[in-house]
Amino acid sequence: MDSLEGSASELLLTKKRELFLSIAKRDFCSSLIHLTGGTSGIGAETARVLAKRGVRLVMPARNLKRAAEVRQGIRRESPEAEIIVMEMDLSSFASIQRFCSEFLSLRLPLNILINNAGKFSKKLELTEDKLEMTFATNYLGHYLLTKNLLEKMVETATRTGIEGRIINVSSVVHRWVKKEGFRFSDMLNPKYYNGTHAYARSKLANIMHAKEIARQLKARKAKVTINAVHPGIVKTGITKDYKGLITDSLFFFASRLLKSASQGASTTCYVALSPRVVGISGKYFVDCNESSCSTLANDEDEAQILRQKTDALLRKRLHQAYK
Ligand SMILES: NC(=O)c1ccc[n+]([C@@H]2O[C@H](COP(=O)([O-])OP(=O)(O)OC[C@H]3O[C@@H](n4cnc5c(N)ncnc54)[C@H](OP(=O)(O)O)[C@@H]3O)[C@@H](O)[C@H]2O)c1
Repeated sequence: MDSLEGSASELLLTKKRELFLSIAKRDFCSSLIHLTGGTSGIGAETARVLAKRGVRLVMPARNLKRAAEVRQGIRRESPEAEIIVMEMDLSSFASIQRFCSEFLSLRLPLNILINNAGKFSKKLELTEDKLEMTFATNYLGHYLLTKNLLEKMVETATRTGIEGRIINVSSVVHRWVKKEGFRFSDMLNPKYYNGTHAYARSKLANIMHAKEIARQLKARKAKVTINAVHPGIVKTGITKDYKGLITDSLFFFASRLLKSASQGASTTCYVALSPRVVGISGKYFVDCNESSCSTLANDEDEAQILRQKTDALLRKRLHQAYK
């Protein structure tokens, strides 16, 4: 049974590799992009737009059925679209590790990584790693994914001379977080859970992550940039959950500023593909323009502490997992 399963997965891997190599032979110039959260909302629209531009997409997703449906929909519009779906649950360190090792074993280039997936838990939920779900999915999961894929991106950029780009999809709500409410241990295991606070902190962490990695990449003179974006307020799965928690008057105000999914995807696509963004790193974009983020999001000491604590957590958890 084991060897049957083993050979089936090897066959799948070989088929995936063949598919990618045939694509790579045909067009060395077109970028390979990883996009998380491509199964709905802003991510699905981002995938549609990118596919139309001729890039090749890897869509890691926890819901493979929905991902396959999105791929089918995109192919109806863009029959040449190259999209490969792979399994990954961002709330699970083990799943991220599995996805990354499978992808890296394909020995393919990687030009662009879009950390778009997002979760908003109204009630306290814990991941299989016993961490608060929203912070784990939005920040920790993307942190680990980026860490695992970064060297591949640096190597691809050095070899091809084409700038690699990482985009963290954050939110304007990062501004709601105060310094005293941004404690790592409390974000991992909150004593008193508030979904809005957890979501806002995770989105602040997404920006700090981008700024911290940007500083490291600049110091290494790596040809890879990383920026954060706010897509605007778009009616998606996330805002449906969100609505119950923020006051009706605030939502009413926010609704007047609602964007369509394609408007929501436009800043991500701009930062991922536009030649105007060449060399720009560690910035925050809104409406396809560089914008200012909160003072806390710009705090380099806080970002460094966050990175150190995240690395220590991952070292401990991943070491435990592979003991
Ligand atoms: N909508 C807004 O107004 C708004 C405003 C500011 C920022 N944002 C940000 O924009 C991004 C996209 O959100 P959206 O509005 O498009 O929300 P959405 O429609 O709810 O989409 C969220 C995506 O994230 C995926 N996801 C959630 N948990 C996951 C997990 N554990 N593993 C893998 N994938 C997971 C979902 O996959 P499943 O299909 O498996 O659920 C889905 O594809 C998020 O980062 C969000 O924070 C949105």
